[in-house]
Amino acid sequence: MTVRHDPIPADSSADATTDPAPRPHASAEEVAAARSDTKLAQVLYHDWEAETYDDKWSISYDQRCIDYARGRFDAVAGDQPLPYERALELGCGTGFFLLNLMQSGVAATGSVTDLSPGMVKVALRNAENLGLPVDGRVADAETIPYDDDTFDLVVGHAVLHHIPDVEQSLREVLRVLKPGGRFVFAGEPTTVGNFYARWLGRATWEATTRVTKLPFLADWRRPQQELDESSRAAALEAVVDLHTFDPAELEAIATAAGADGVQAKTEEFAAALLGWPVRTFEAAVPAEKLGWGWARFAFTGWKSLSWLDEKVLHHVVPRGYFYNVMITGTKPLATD
Ligand SMILES: C[S@@+](CC[C@H](N)C(=O)[O-])C[C@H]1O[C@@H](n2cnc3c(N)ncnc32)[C@H](O)[C@@H]1O
Repeated sequence: MTVRHDPIPADSSADATTDPAPRPHASAEEVAAARSDTKLAQVLYHDWEAETYDDKWSISYDQRCIDYARGRFDAVAGDQPLPYERALELGCGTGFFLLNLMQSGVAATGSVTDLSPGMVKVALRNAENLGLPVDGRVADAETIPYDDDTFDLVVGHAVLHHIPDVEQSLREVLRVLKPGGRFVFAGEPTTVGNFYARWLGRATWEATTRVTKLPFLADWRRPQQELDESSRAAALEAVVDLHTFDPAELEAIATAAGADGVQAKTEEFAAALLGWPVRTFEAAVPAEKLGWGWARFAFTGWKSLSWLDEKVLHHVVPRGYFYNVMITGTKPLATD
């Protein structure tokens, strides 16, 4: 299989040769300007993160993440015939969602796009390493640089909450989809879920960084410079994280954008109550302190609680209380 780094010929407006280059080291002036310019903040923050992003979020392209990506897709669109011929990902990051979906047989060819040039570069490199037929563009999800009626499927993971005008972006998604084509967005934070996740994250960070100041736990303390850098990154997160979603409101936005058959689903309640402290603890202590035993605990704990969420809590807890929301819908079929 070939990997395409060139623009797709049919798209008159697309030109990968003019895409901006990554800026992994922003100047102090750029960072200051980014505080009042959310899109500049997205680029600086994600360009800075791009090369370390897969490690930071335990992203891989093996069966573990293939199953995770496919599970999110099937939860809202599992009853559809596969594969989709041509798929687009918005806010692809390092390619986690679309590349793993392609490996599981969801789409035959793919285009990865992101506002951050550094992320597109890493996503294309990951696709090349996996031998997947993927091309890529630097693109803003509010003005997608592809022609009308181009794609059979548009996907995104953890991207909608970064986009200033979500309805405008979904209108663009429907424009580039072929009639009857489907979109699937997953990994968006619910409003209630975001509240308890942030609270748990902050409490875990405070507790861990305080306790590891005790002299006999000095080995468990990350160097102050690294902790300061993490705190600065967290401050920028406040500039790049723009929305949280109530599932019904997200459905209303997609319907207002013109989509048919809109359906939002939520997941991870007990799993998120474990996951956020675990992830924050991992960020607060030196990586070498946490071996395979910890990784196994974190993964099996998350899996068991996800099972509990799906089989039991889904029937008794309101859907808005779960941490993740995903949404699907289709472009209306053309009417003469
Ligand atoms: C939280 S990351 C998720 C990355 C990847 N989808 C994943 O799940 O690992 C959000 C991504 O959205 C991108 N992004 C933010 N605003 C965007 C926009 N307006 N248009 C396109 N991409 C955007 C960021 O650069 C970043 O790579």
